[in-house]
Amino acid sequence: MADGPITDAEFQQAGLRLAVDGAVATITLARPERRNALTFSTWRTLARIGDTLPDGVRVVVVRGEGPAFSAGIDLRLFTAEGVPGEDALAPRDEEFIRGLQAGYLWLRRPDIVSIAAVQGHAIGGGFQLALACDLRVVADDVKFAMKEPALGIVPDLTGTKPLVDIVGVPRAMELCLTTRTVFADEAARLGLAELVVPVADLGKAVDDLVAAILAVRPSTAAATKRLLRAAPGNTLEEQSAAERREQVALLNEHIREQSP
Ligand code: ACO
Repeated sequence: MADGPITDAEFQQAGLRLAVDGAVATITLARPERRNALTFSTWRTLARIGDTLPDGVRVVVVRGEGPAFSAGIDLRLFTAEGVPGEDALAPRDEEFIRGLQAGYLWLRRPDIVSIAAVQGHAIGGGFQLALACDLRVVADDVKFAMKEPALGIVPDLTGTKPLVDIVGVPRAMELCLTTRTVFADEAARLGLAELVVPVADLGKAVDDLVAAILAVRPSTAAATKRLLRAAPGNTLEEQSAAERREQVALLNEHIREQSP
């Protein structure tokens, strides 16, 4: 994988844009004419964005340009014709998939809060990208669908864990094996969306959420995220200990700051 700053050519091939404004980074899926279909370059460049994110970024917004958040993997990758500039159709090993998963994994980092702003279709790898984010703000035309099993594959872009964490094993199984579409009302009911707003209000709703998050001290936000992310895997005792540990560190930090 390349080192150094991400070039315009990389962004172009990936179908991505990145804008960093102080503490907020906005990643835009920018191939609306293909409904923001995702390629290997998209996932690898997302990983590079995570690796090279400027210090001081506290919120990462992931959004899609056009009518859909993302139609998932570019289906041409499954054909002999392929996609120009992308790896050709070939047998894959686990390391290959690990490199793609890296594009989504970093969105869970405790020093940032990641927010997916989702309108229209979020299918397969697009649904998993929304699931990789900490929070989902969705438009009332949202359509989530985990289509991978219909293509003979499993969801392998780190989406099965958050899906199960959010909706539970039976519902996750039903959603994946029927590959059916989840619309806005159900998404809200299942906890797949923190907020549902009219399409026209999506940007403003995300801005408001970002402002609220930025009002919390960075170290407090990171400690809170660490605590909450660890909670499902911890016993009550372990979690109580984690609360104590984080709190003592924060209180000591406050005292140090107030000391002359
Ligand atoms: N891969 C490649 N091209 C795509 C994809 C995709 N996943 N999705 C849409 N496009 C292209 C279409 O081929 C079309 O191209 P064209 O203008 O050259 O004909 C263009 O994007 C617009 O697509 P439409 O189908 O015309 O747009 P519409 O808004 O009517 O429908 C929808 C959008 C529902 C997303 C539909 O395109 C679709 O079902 N796409 C495939 C979804 C899919 O199965 N993805 C794989 C999921 S599994 C995974 O991600 C691992």
